[in-house]
Amino acid sequence: MIEYAWAHRLANPLAVALLEGLRHKPRAIAPKFFYDARGSALFDQICDLPEYYPTRTELGLLQRHAREMAECIGPAADVVEFGAGSQRKIRLLLQALQRPARYVPVDISTEHLREHARALQAEQPGLPVQALAADFSADIVLPPLPAEARRRVGFFPGSSIGNFTPAEALQFLRRSAAWLRGGGLLIGVDLVKDPAVLHAAYNDAAGVTAAFNKNLLLRANRELGTDFDAEAFHHHAFYDPRAQRIEMHLISARRQTVRVFGERFLFDEGESLHTENSCKYTVEGFQHLAREAGYAPQAVWCDAQRLFSVHWLAAPAD
Ligand code: AVJ
Repeated sequence: MIEYAWAHRLANPLAVALLEGLRHKPRAIAPKFFYDARGSALFDQICDLPEYYPTRTELGLLQRHAREMAECIGPAADVVEFGAGSQRKIRLLLQALQRPARYVPVDISTEHLREHARALQAEQPGLPVQALAADFSADIVLPPLPAEARRRVGFFPGSSIGNFTPAEALQFLRRSAAWLRGGGLLIGVDLVKDPAVLHAAYNDAAGVTAAFNKNLLLRANRELGTDFDAEAFHHHAFYDPRAQRIEMHLISARRQTVRVFGERFLFDEGESLHTENSCKYTVEGFQHLAREAGYAPQAVWCDAQRLFSVHWLAAPAD
């Protein structure tokens, strides 16, 4: 039993992050751990919620401006999508691209990635699709450029960049500028706005975001044999205007103890496990960050209400 726990803990990044996240106060865990198969399915449901404006707004931008975006990207691009999810948005881009050389969806959610990459490949048999199950917040090794490809271009939609703090985002942008040398990055970034709009988007009436948040605990129960009582935690999401970010937490509804690999963790009533940051930017603020990372911001598209932005960032050649 103890040997099993040891092996499992060493092999499983969720176990390592959960143990570390529970040992340190305030307690926290990175949002990338939301995305097992169930978490990815719940996130897909969030994208269709009436309160969750980012997905439909960005889809609208891609629909309206796909041609201009394709011109920035250029012909024969090797397109790498970070956090590909259900691969809905890439379809709009692929339609507009000139002879895309290959599509490389990268996602941490392995089964979800495989399922959607297969569906896309079946739809577009002439396009090489090479799925990469990986955590792009760490170092990743991209497959070598195919011979037909002229340049490598990143696609990072959905404002998933917002899950990084600005310092982490800068780090990611710097690393991606190296991967995309001579190409560029098309990236969706959620904008600073009326806190009431943000609050509604992360506190939907149907409770899907709450279920998504709590799935982290249920995932731990499923994968690690922990004994979280998901009912005994409340979903709490709020906008912090100074940090320009939504924070999501799981708040203990009562004093309770949870066990992770035999280690006991006491939660006081009202104590939080911080599960997500979703940082928001102004257009200028994001362009500044991109420049600091070595990119040249060359185009930006926003909806009329300025809810969401899509940026084309050219990556330096050397
Ligand atoms: C996938 C990180 C862009 O921050 O809006 C949705 C995740 N969390 N509702 C976001 C999320 C709660 C989403 N990102």
